[in-house]
Amino acid sequence: MSTHSKPSKNEEEFFARADAELRKQRRKRAIVEQLVALVPAGSASTRALVEEHVGREASIVRPSDRLQFTMIADQHDAYRAWKRVTVRIAEREYAMATKPGTVACGRVDPAAVLLGERLDVANGDVVVQLHCGNGLVGAVAWARGAARVLLADRNVLSVEAARRTLVENGVGNGEALPGQGALALPSGTQADVVAIRIPPERQSLQQLLWDAFHVLRVGGRCYIAGATNEGIRTAERTMDRLFGGGRLLGQDSGHRVTMATRRTVEPADRAAIDSPYLDADAFHEQVATMRGRPFTLCSRPGVFSWDHLDEATAILAETMLVHPGDSVLDLGCGAGALGTLAGTLSGAPVTMVDVDVEAVRSATRTAAAAGLSGARILASDVAGAVLGERFDVVVTNPPFHVGKMTDLDVPMQFIADAWTVLAPGGRLYLVANRTLPYERVIARWFGNLTTLHDGRRFKVLSAVR
Ligand SMILES: C[S@@+](CC[C@H](N)C(=O)[O-])C[C@H]1O[C@@H](n2cnc3c(N)ncnc32)[C@H](O)[C@@H]1O
Repeated sequence: MSTHSKPSKNEEEFFARADAELRKQRRKRAIVEQLVALVPAGSASTRALVEEHVGREASIVRPSDRLQFTMIADQHDAYRAWKRVTVRIAEREYAMATKPGTVACGRVDPAAVLLGERLDVANGDVVVQLHCGNGLVGAVAWARGAARVLLADRNVLSVEAARRTLVENGVGNGEALPGQGALALPSGTQADVVAIRIPPERQSLQQLLWDAFHVLRVGGRCYIAGATNEGIRTAERTMDRLFGGGRLLGQDSGHRVTMATRRTVEPADRAAIDSPYLDADAFHEQVATMRGRPFTLCSRPGVFSWDHLDEATAILAETMLVHPGDSVLDLGCGAGALGTLAGTLSGAPVTMVDVDVEAVRSATRTAAAAGLSGARILASDVAGAVLGERFDVVVTNPPFHVGKMTDLDVPMQFIADAWTVLAPGGRLYLVANRTLPYERVIARWFGNLTTLHDGRRFKVLSAVR
């Protein structure tokens, strides 16, 4: 068991929140247990059914159960509860769906507001937004007369947020679709307007600009928005070269929005885009050695540590214990390094989940390259897709950023979900920057904690359920 020095004020606040969260989760679990006892015996999937509906609308349960399930949903932890916030754009109010873990983390993204303010939509336009986040721009486009709104994002939580935002604002012909760029759109989509809230990674942005150019009809308009410290000026220069010119439409507190018109069939300067990953099936491949064995890691731009094996991941790979036959969940799998190694060590089918569909596609490739059979790689918000299942081992290198913001709600939920999906006796292996305050949260959930590695920059924590 680790010892701890006196926590800072921030840590105290964090632990107070963690405590409150834990109390709520325990209450929820007690209700789940009561409900499981209420449902007739013989239904092996009862627990899965109950848990599947925790925090969601109870749409497929028997009417008599509806009240109880709704009660659980109401009491469910704050992490999975959706909220509706109102955002004012150009004298009109819009509803925006948000929850912990979504890009704007409950705040309103100034770049989305700028985009909304400057977006020019004609009656009947087809409007596409790539990297749509909470989907606010889709609601604005609809209110301004768009005939069809298509929103795409590689983050499945953003897709769900955008879907809810469309519904909340009564968008009659709108869809929110999972995927990076044009890959997410119905084939043959031709747009009058494409709006892009720029992503943080340069090659991902290049892909979105390239796709925007090709999805637009000649005469159509491309809008980009983002912060200066997120690279909006570089994005503007690339768009200028690709489209043959662009115009700054507005700027506010470090954020800018710029528009360019597609005037030609071919890009004005093809060399503006130098990414070799424009084809959705072009993966970066590298061989990394873990536990003395070579693995081909496949990944796409924007996936965590997509062009090298992350140092913390490598440490966890060398530290985690996976026995033959263990069922393993790689929580937040990225390109699938840990899950693929774990599947190789256990010889049993491994499960990997990630919120980013490009990570899911990458991990699927990585597992296939290692010849893993039966690997299951799913898009999921934390362990949401597998909450009804039980695993012998959970391995994780949890994220602590959403976009550019540090956000400890997500790693806290990683720990809570790890506890939920571990079978009794199951083991958690977690790697983190040594400054991150996870020890007490893990100890409170699991009642035990072992520090397996305590390095200069990273630590590996383990607990048994
Ligand atoms: C620090 S990275 C680790 C990736 C991989 N396990 C590795 O070690 O290379 C964290 C991963 O968590 C994923 N992630 C972020 N938020 C998530 C969420 N709400 N649910 C599931 N995965 C999430 C990110 O997409 C990212 O791939």
